[in-house]
Amino acid sequence: MSKAEIGLIGLGTMGAALALNIADHGFDIAVWNRTTSVTQEFHASAGQLAARITPTETLEALVEAIAEPRAIILMVPAGQAVDDQIAALRPLLGPDDLIIDAGNANFHDTNRRSRDGSGPFLGIGVSGGEDGARHGPAIMGGGKRADWNRVAPILTAIAAKFDGTPCANWMGEEGAGHFVKAVHNGIEYADMQMIAEIYGILRDGMGYGPDQVARVFNRWNEGPLQSYLVEISGKVAGATDKETDKPLLEVIVDAAGQKGTGRWTAIEAQHLAAPIPCIEAAVVARNLSSRRDARAEGERLFGAGPVPMGDAAPTEDALENALICGKILCYAQGYEMIAAASEQYGWALDLPTIARTWRAGCIIRSAMLDDMATALAEGSSRNLMFAPHFTKRIQESHAALRQVVATGVAHGVALPALGAGLAYFDAMRTARGTANMIQGQRDFFGLHGFERFDGRKDQHGPWAE
Ligand code: 6PG
Repeated sequence: MSKAEIGLIGLGTMGAALALNIADHGFDIAVWNRTTSVTQEFHASAGQLAARITPTETLEALVEAIAEPRAIILMVPAGQAVDDQIAALRPLLGPDDLIIDAGNANFHDTNRRSRDGSGPFLGIGVSGGEDGARHGPAIMGGGKRADWNRVAPILTAIAAKFDGTPCANWMGEEGAGHFVKAVHNGIEYADMQMIAEIYGILRDGMGYGPDQVARVFNRWNEGPLQSYLVEISGKVAGATDKETDKPLLEVIVDAAGQKGTGRWTAIEAQHLAAPIPCIEAAVVARNLSSRRDARAEGERLFGAGPVPMGDAAPTEDALENALICGKILCYAQGYEMIAAASEQYGWALDLPTIARTWRAGCIIRSAMLDDMATALAEGSSRNLMFAPHFTKRIQESHAALRQVVATGVAHGVALPALGAGLAYFDAMRTARGTANMIQGQRDFFGLHGFERFDGRKDQHGPWAE
């Protein structure tokens, strides 16, 4: 039997789906899982695709089953498990054999693994969940371009397509792919949070039931907000719990989980001094959502936050435009952070390529991303706000964002991400800010010095005498 063209380790949800996708596109693949029964069950349930899948029961057998120079995908939990798997695998490989970490690794780990000299290494961000992995993910590659080119025929074949163009691209050296994936996840958090905030206004401010919420999101998914997340939010709102026959949203506990990728983005933004308030607000909102007992105590002591908006309620169109504006501002922050990292790490990341990669397959895929790719390619600024197409869309929608945030504030509906977006917008159009007061304070208590408008630096106030 001819040897496999590629190997895969880790037949969990994502790994199994990716392996089937690879086989489904006509590539022979060898697979191994630490638990042999998982490998056997995977192969037994692969149907016609089993003919292209070689199940193996040892790492040695896996390596032997792959044609040289080998390429082996790791789909194992991020962190120590990846290092352990590499340590077990490398001694079995030749000097040209390529290891590809396709998990949600922290890009700092991928930088380290790329530099450890143990052999060719790629870190790729794979987005789209299980369905994406099986039927077409978005793939963000990091590592040496030559190593990407070795496996690009397979990765572009299995990737989602936008108008026939694969959503799989090399981002840059070392951890660039996992970094872009982390920013994708940060934006994902913010997109999800802003949708949840609009849901909060509909539910608590306007008294909408889940079916009405579903109707609104389903209608918006036909317009400028067309996106996977708006689409599934309509489906979640319209879902019925089989056990109780109640709307599903009424039985789900309001505490958000997080595997941590969005948190990594918020942490890294601080290292880069990149302002991403919408993403940071979304991570904080997830942290706050887990403090259910404290929030119940707060309601008991201070009375419930949200109160009905009555005639002050925004129209559905205003809510739609507020979400459009918040989304644009959030993506502007995300792209600006990517540009800051590109400078910091010398990656030469291409923003239009990144936006094009996100147009299909990934969790944040949306109609707006194609416009963003075009605007970023045409624009001279790294801030999406200043790309003419989006400058116009913000000019048309920021009044709605302000009205919605103001109404939410007046009626106790927490809007941390939408509110952060509005504050970011206002700060980004205030040429004379108030940080002069901060500079004065810092100099008063620490003689840290300040710059004067006449250009003289390291100046001090009268308190310095
Ligand atoms: C994707 C998703 C995925 C993410 C999980 C859980 O792009 O397919 O972003 O990678 O890790 O959906 O994410 P959280 O637990 O952090 O919400």
